[in-house]
Amino acid sequence: MKILLVSAALLFFTAPALAQQTPKLSAEEMHRFHQNSKAYIVFLEDPKRDEYQKPHEVIMALDLKEGERIADIGAGSGYFAFRLARHVGETGRVFAVDISPDMILHMNRAIRDMGIRNVTTILAPPDDPLLADNSIDRFFICDTWHHIENQTKYLELMKKMLKPSGQVIMIDFQKRELPVGPPLEMKITKEDLTGQMRAAGFELLKEHTFLPYQYFLVFTAKVGGSE
Ligand SMILES: C[S@@+](CC[C@H](N)C(=O)[O-])C[C@H]1O[C@@H](n2cnc3c(N)ncnc32)[C@H](O)[C@@H]1O
Repeated sequence: MKILLVSAALLFFTAPALAQQTPKLSAEEMHRFHQNSKAYIVFLEDPKRDEYQKPHEVIMALDLKEGERIADIGAGSGYFAFRLARHVGETGRVFAVDISPDMILHMNRAIRDMGIRNVTTILAPPDDPLLADNSIDRFFICDTWHHIENQTKYLELMKKMLKPSGQVIMIDFQKRELPVGPPLEMKITKEDLTGQMRAAGFELLKEHTFLPYQYFLVFTAKVGGSE
């Protein structure tokens, strides 16, 4: 029993450090790490992450407007959702969507403890963010797209849920060996993603290049629909 407890404690405290070296983790090991919600949250909230994730610069680059309605898909611990919420004001809203009940619980506690009034959490199935049609100004998707299995269906749904001239923001790890992020085989190249988006009827509006390990792309729905 004692050995078991020590091993569990070791896993909890070393998992974030392990995950920082993800090129050495296989997809299966990474999947197992994701099942340990406590460690996953510590990892997502690790202040060291800020050094490469540059959350303040990301938020500033979005040039958010008061009143915007943003859907953060795969919101996780709320790392970006709560930052986005500060910039859309009381009339705006952030929908923090995730498939993990533990992440939703974590965000719900933070919402209560911090008295946040403009974030709605949504526990969603993997293939549908459960948002109303024509209701979202921007989808924000950071480090999550590669987790979504039925991406074609997801894109179709997002297109319907977006308001006219709404945007899809995609931030994800470049497909090369990096000191952080998922194993190579789990990543999608910027070119493949852009092609996938184009086929689904989105065009690349803007690319920000200040993140060292991730691409940061802004798409909008093409007039005239998909290819
Ligand atoms: C790597 S974390 C990123 C969290 C957050 N976007 C961030 O940047 O801190 C990926 C998150 O996506 C969630 N996720 C995985 N598949 C999903 C899906 N199909 N729909 C919504 N969320 C999903 C996971 O539960 C996890 O919380």
